[in-house]
Amino acid sequence: IKRFAVIGHPVAHSLSPRIHAAFGKQRGIALEYTAIDATPEQFDAALAAFAAGGGTGANITLPHKQYAATVCESLTERAQRCGAANTLIRTDTGWLGDNTDGLGLVRDLTERHGQDLRGRKVLLIGAGGAARGVAPALLDAGIKSLFIVNRTPARTDALADVLGEPDRVHPRNFEDLGNLGGFDLIVNATSAAREAALPFLPSSLVAPRADAVDLSYGEVAIPFLAWARAAGADVVVDGLGMLVEQAAEAFQRWHGVRPDTSAVYAALRESYT
Ligand code: ATR
Repeated sequence: IKRFAVIGHPVAHSLSPRIHAAFGKQRGIALEYTAIDATPEQFDAALAAFAAGGGTGANITLPHKQYAATVCESLTERAQRCGAANTLIRTDTGWLGDNTDGLGLVRDLTERHGQDLRGRKVLLIGAGGAARGVAPALLDAGIKSLFIVNRTPARTDALADVLGEPDRVHPRNFEDLGNLGGFDLIVNATSAAREAALPFLPSSLVAPRADAVDLSYGEVAIPFLAWARAAGADVVVDGLGMLVEQAAEAFQRWHGVRPDTSAVYAALRESYT
């Protein structure tokens, strides 16, 4: 039986074990998928122990996505472009790092929610591992511009630099948010609500018929999504659909088979309204 795991901190409430078990059942593939809690100090040892125990694939979640990219022997082009990895594939010589977050978000928005991202003016809030994962895929989906704000400006600049598209990518500061006009899509990729409160966001950020998405789900997504609704956003979604889609993409990389996401998404949605 092939062994898989998600490594994060905290990780106990991760839905990934449940999602991959459901995909495996659906496609008749026997697999073991566990959650490994590891702090940044413990990450190297945890990954090494997993590999030594025969682990063939791992998902990486917060706060390790950027660090994980640095320990991989090689990276896919999309992981390289964002400097973050959420999916690790065991090879004969080490780990191949991939990033399926961005494709997961774009699939959820375009296929599940019927949105067309082309030509959109997009605001990305956050510049950590989650933000990095989705930025390249948003650019590839044909958006017009990507403005990035983050509490720590150095990380905003670092992300803008690695994306390498100065004509479309604009690092900004939170203090500038009142002067940027409205956005057609606003993505919350911060973990702010997990720790404290959301940063202040003026409602002028929400253009008519704008969409808003929080990359998290459950209770931590509530403050941002409530803000977006109150500010007049049209389609307001949490990160549950993205989570299922990024998992499907990882499943395909590991098993060579694409699972059907709709039933798994519907089952999870019942628990997270
Ligand atoms: P993740 O994988 O969830 O992105 P991360 O790499 O630790 O995890 O990044 C967390 C993001 O949430 C960062 O953009 C972080 O801002 P900093 O780069 O300034 O740390 C953001 N964040 C966390 N707490 C926040 C808060 N209270 N206010 C604003 N931003 C916050």
